[in-house]
Amino acid sequence: MSGLFHRLATRPGAAIPFTIDGMSAEARAGDLLIAAILLHRHSLRRFEFGSGERAGYCLMGACQDCWVTLADGRRLRACTTPVEPGMAVITGGGDA
Ligand code: FES
Repeated sequence: MSGLFHRLATRPGAAIPFTIDGMSAEARAGDLLIAAILLHRHSLRRFEFGSGERAGYCLMGACQDCWVTLADGRRLRACTTPVEPGMAVITGGGDA
């Protein structure tokens, strides 16, 4: 795992498989989607109004900077959504 976030302690709980741009990834039960993604990547998504990438800002549901898209068309605020098994996140970039 090499991302923007790093775990400071082992988190107990079941492993939760999901994908990021089709690549297998793993989170732990209780992880929020923002943490699940940023443990693997350096950003959440491409910025829709210019070049660059976004990685969230407030981490508490206020700034709206962490919206991500799933392959099934859902758009979710990553900092307030627990990761679920089988989620297929589309970032719109490489290792964003
Ligand atoms: S990081 Fe601000 S709303 Fe999610």
